[in-house]
Amino acid sequence: MSSVLIKNAQIITMNSREEIIHGDLYIEDDIIKQVGGDLGSETDQVIDAKNKTVIPGFIQTHIHLCQTLFRGQADDLELMDWLQKKIWPLEASHDEESSYYSAMLGLGELIQSGTTTIVDMETVNHADAAFQAMAESGIRCLSGKVMMDMGDDIPELLKEDTAKSIQQSVDLLEKWHQYDNGRIQYAFCPRFVVSCTEELLTAVRDLSKYYNVKVHTHASENRGEIKIVEMQRGMRNVVYLDKLGLANENLILAHCVWLDDEEKRIIKERGIKMSHCPGSNLKLASGIADIPDMLDMDANISLGADGAPCNNNLDMFNEMRLASLIQKPKHGPTAMDARSVFRMATIGGAKAVGMADQIGSIEVGKKADIAILDLFKFHTYPSYDVDPISRIVYSATRADVDTTIINGKIVMEKSNVKTINKEL
Ligand code: GUN
Ligand code: FE
Repeated sequence: MSSVLIKNAQIITMNSREEIIHGDLYIEDDIIKQVGGDLGSETDQVIDAKNKTVIPGFIQTHIHLCQTLFRGQADDLELMDWLQKKIWPLEASHDEESSYYSAMLGLGELIQSGTTTIVDMETVNHADAAFQAMAESGIRCLSGKVMMDMGDDIPELLKEDTAKSIQQSVDLLEKWHQYDNGRIQYAFCPRFVVSCTEELLTAVRDLSKYYNVKVHTHASENRGEIKIVEMQRGMRNVVYLDKLGLANENLILAHCVWLDDEEKRIIKERGIKMSHCPGSNLKLASGIADIPDMLDMDANISLGADGAPCNNNLDMFNEMRLASLIQKPKHGPTAMDARSVFRMATIGGAKAVGMADQIGSIEVGKKADIAILDLFKFHTYPSYDVDPISRIVYSATRADVDTTIINGKIVMEKSNVKTINKEL
């Protein structure tokens, strides 16, 4: 048995009462055993968290680790041009080694910035190497190879035969789903309606039901993309996914910038999980998703950085800040307040991946996926009187993350942090 005791912390629990408490936090193996109080110091690892803030680890629900190495490419293109001219040829150029290191680089950045769970989409080839990196990094993740069996503009190396795409996905699922006690889960990843045949999408529907796994895809990100879907299928993205029987609570839908009222209703009624990617939506000039409206409808919304080339980093602090700032000019200062954004980044993400009973908040019995922040390092008034959530959303950066713990394991610890390893 291993144990970690975090002493004297400010703990942002994100429990149902969203309590913020001061005291100790005790972890045994992968589970939070006690929250609050003074728990002494009789354990093997003790972290002094005086003047530090403990938060639930961030959950990012839309990431492409396979794109981390393509940062800085095609910064001034819109989605379809960007995919065709840059991203697809670059994804086609991956070999096993570059896939592994692309994933490792992204995972390092995610863990250093306090992200403990991701929903990822790999490229067509070499997804196995990326899974290997995810296994080694300690991250909690849902991931899968991208599936794309349609389109004239796709490079030869990415264009898939339908049956082969399905078979390769199932092979990866059989190998990686539930690896390390469920820390890694498989998710089917049809890229977007534009590049998937109906045969592929219906097979994904049946397989996701059979294996009870998530489906992770993009929809209604860009007006040009929506036009293509309307030409190809005669209807809008979410309506089409609903017609195929894919619109259900296992569907994680990235972007959803341009939704009409019918699509919004389907998302809410079917329990689809929306992944909002504000940095990507700005950089690719896709638009500003109407998140205040969707929150009013009580839809499930979480956050993702998308791929590194979509916004140049994978940092949840940026996404939280942007998610709030982009709504303020139109909707006023409180429409997307700090707490709503922080909720999307933590417990909202946990609901999206169907694990709200296990992650997303700091509560006894939950998995120990947490980050320890030093919010006073670069902020001038070291006072607990300031709302820490406001501080995190509007002024914290990844430099403020001291320690990241996933499944009870310390996976990142800055050298200025002292963990005392005691002989038991
Ligand atoms: N739509 C289809 N593929 C992609 C992708 O790789 N990134 C983004 N942002 N949107 C997509
Ligand atoms: Fe994406």
